[in-house]
Amino acid sequence: MPASKQSSSAPSPRFAIAILAAGKGTRLKSRHPKVLHQIAGKPLLEHVLDAARQVVAAEDVFVIIGHEADLVRQAVAHTGVGFVVQAEQRGTGHALMVARAALSAYDHVLVLSGDVPLIRPQTIARLRDFHLDKKSAMTLLTAVPPDPTGYGRIVRKKAGGRRGAEVAAIVEEKSCTPAQRRMREINAGIYAFALPPLYARIDQLSTGNPHREFYLTDMAAVLGKAKQKVLALAAADAHEVLGVNTRVELARLDALLREKKCRELMLSGVTIFRPETCVIDAEVTIAPDTVIEPFVQILGATTIGSESRIRSYSVITNSEIGDHVTLQPGSILTNSRIASHAIIGPYAHLRPGSDIGEGARVGNFVETKKVHLGKGSKANHLTYLGDAEIGSGVNVGAGTITCNYDGTHKHKTVIEDGAFIGSDTTLVAPVRVGKGAYVGAGSCITDDVPEDSLAVGRSRQVVKEGWARQKREAMAAQKK
Ligand code: UD1
Ligand code: CA
Repeated sequence: MPASKQSSSAPSPRFAIAILAAGKGTRLKSRHPKVLHQIAGKPLLEHVLDAARQVVAAEDVFVIIGHEADLVRQAVAHTGVGFVVQAEQRGTGHALMVARAALSAYDHVLVLSGDVPLIRPQTIARLRDFHLDKKSAMTLLTAVPPDPTGYGRIVRKKAGGRRGAEVAAIVEEKSCTPAQRRMREINAGIYAFALPPLYARIDQLSTGNPHREFYLTDMAAVLGKAKQKVLALAAADAHEVLGVNTRVELARLDALLREKKCRELMLSGVTIFRPETCVIDAEVTIAPDTVIEPFVQILGATTIGSESRIRSYSVITNSEIGDHVTLQPGSILTNSRIASHAIIGPYAHLRPGSDIGEGARVGNFVETKKVHLGKGSKANHLTYLGDAEIGSGVNVGAGTITCNYDGTHKHKTVIEDGAFIGSDTTLVAPVRVGKGAYVGAGSCITDDVPEDSLAVGRSRQVVKEGWARQKREAMAAQKK
């Protein structure tokens, strides 16, 4: 908590941020709480928290939780913010009633909605400054979106016969007259309140509305009637106050963020063909002159160097990719690292802990897990490499398999520099193939192979001369 003692000179007003996140999100038709649904790879609530924490310190942020409170708390506990439990969700006004004690050490509160995720910190700060500057009791953020359906409409007081600056009321869509429904200025669900007037009159809210809830929006009329100043500030960009009530809106906002991310990347020097088909998370970084082909997903904390090419249908999660790397179509990478000049795929599956060395190649239908593949080594076809340490200049033949699991434990395979593993080898771990050694095709290797030796672990071929001819003749004799 901030110091509650004010200095005698000019005390700076103490601002808290309250984020409304207790609602169920009925219109999403989901078993999961609305604010944990994701856009751009991050829960809605976390987008709002990221913005909030740029305006005030984490300890001055209070998330109001209720529906699935434990899940929501767990999901964002790492941010260090506080929580207020609204056990029964009786409306947005009720949420603020419940937060009264938590906000007792503050002069003002900025109220954000957990389902309005694109709000920018600059806009929150602008609302705070405007609210303070005008000495307003309640200041609400408004916007004029292309389609105002579903939002509360702003009714302004008349000043000299014209719509003035002060707000008379916010009317929810369901309670609008046809004329009010045609009004396009909407309530963003984002407010600044001076706390003394808010809590002096919050008890005047009633549940006389179609939802039988305490609406925070009704504070505009309550405060207005009490001759308190209620002002509106227009958001510069209507996009940033869009709310998520349905999955259609969820997809729309996700698309907006993805589009923005691709735009930033393209302007920074990355080529993205058909960006509208690519899904790139906010934290991804890509260096200039890398090319991203259509229908690629790049997720989590992935970084990609320069001059690389990510071909279609690849899905990359939390991975580090160097410069001049080619990912052929359909490659799946998770928590992996690819050094420069490596070539991966098509259709390679790199599972967590895959560490592919410089200029190495992992070809089609190769699966790797917890593997270091050294510089210039190749595993080009139909192979499984798990729990293995593979040196440089190694050739792993088609169809090679590390048998790393004995049904209970995982064991390690070591293949030293320059070794040659013939096609269709099974390496039964723990096992080691020494430097420069050869393994004959089709071998089942259960014992270590010394440096520079040849190991052949298969049964010797038997040839029976004339066998097939004799069989055919015997069959023909039977038919007669
Ligand atoms: C609200 C506003 C509406 C505004 C719109 C902007 C009210 C009555 N209406 O409508 O004027 O245009 O937001 O997006 O406020 N919540 C709680 N506790 C509750 C109820 C809701 O914490 O008891 C939370 C929800 O989880 C949500 C937020 O408050 O994050 C807004 O609630 P929601 O039901 O989505 O309000 P809207 O109908 O969108
Ligand atoms: Ca909403």
